[in-house]
Amino acid sequence: PRVAIVFGGRNSEHGVSILGAGSVLEAIDRSKYEVVPVGIAQDGRWVIAAGEQRYAIEDGAMPVVDATGTALALPSGGEALVAYEAGSIPVDFGQVDVVFPVMHGPFAEDGTIQGLLEMAGVRYVGSGVLASAVGMDKGYMKMVLAAAGLPVGPYVVVRDRDWRTARERVLKEVEELGWPVFVKPARAGSSQGISKANDRQELERAVEFAREHDPKVLVEAAIVGREIECAVLESPGDEAPRASLPGEVLVHGDHEFFDFEAKYIGDEMSLAVPADIPAEVAEELRAMAVRAFEALGCEGLSRVDFFYTEDGGLVLNEINTMPGFTSVSVAPQLWAATGVPYAELVDRLIQLALN
Ligand code: DAL
Ligand code: MG
Repeated sequence: PRVAIVFGGRNSEHGVSILGAGSVLEAIDRSKYEVVPVGIAQDGRWVIAAGEQRYAIEDGAMPVVDATGTALALPSGGEALVAYEAGSIPVDFGQVDVVFPVMHGPFAEDGTIQGLLEMAGVRYVGSGVLASAVGMDKGYMKMVLAAAGLPVGPYVVVRDRDWRTARERVLKEVEELGWPVFVKPARAGSSQGISKANDRQELERAVEFAREHDPKVLVEAAIVGREIECAVLESPGDEAPRASLPGEVLVHGDHEFFDFEAKYIGDEMSLAVPADIPAEVAEELRAMAVRAFEALGCEGLSRVDFFYTEDGGLVLNEINTMPGFTSVSVAPQLWAATGVPYAELVDRLIQLALN
């Protein structure tokens, strides 16, 4: 089969996506799949990635999609797939069997590219339109998870108009959460636009900061607890999805939380798998992760992030429908520790999409 690995995209996780694509391109079995790397530049242009495309961090700088080349023919000698107009839909999806959008964030993990692929009638790896859209919007995500009986923490949604016209009311609502709070763009990823606020003044700044990413903002009560993450993988056929071993994210160095720097640039996080938590908590957490996956109607792979609080409770922080996907990212590491090495994970995801 011919697989298009699509990466980059028009959002702040552009570079993170390229790192993931680099890992997939390295691990994919080329005797089994014909691979077409497709980059989406930051301005929205689509290109077939040429040899010069960089897939790694260099000198602390994230890679970007190189859209300077000219259209390339398919490796097999077929027609060129690419147009260079921003805003056009240049890929002839009739020429690929399956698309692997290794992308995160808006226009990537939020149902938009999934909708495009549905319209084009091509199969793709990962969740569909609705699950992707719900998973991307932290407000709707919490609504659905809570409705499924899963433990989400207290939060306030700050809509654009409320912020502009009813700020006093918003501030009062937030104060009821207690300080500190975490302020997040409703639809972003990789911790971008997130900050912590200890009082009203900091809150106003934090909301403005989050609004640079999204006019819809979420304010969450700070939850004191250990960060435990679990990945869920769809099973073939009629079997239920499976949860990986849970892992604990350990952040070293001077970070208020697991921010973008700690995640990607510095070498400041590590993962302990399996997490050192009581067996019954691990079982409960894995069951919740699968329930979250099913509540949203996810497909392929997701990563579900929890807090294990001091009183022994679990709070479900979020689900990511296209989690960071380099070979050393959390979800791939969790699956490797659970007996599914990275190359096999890539293969399974493609097979799930094809079948
Ligand atoms: N949004 C990043 C890629 C993650 O969830 O891993
Ligand atoms: Mg997320």
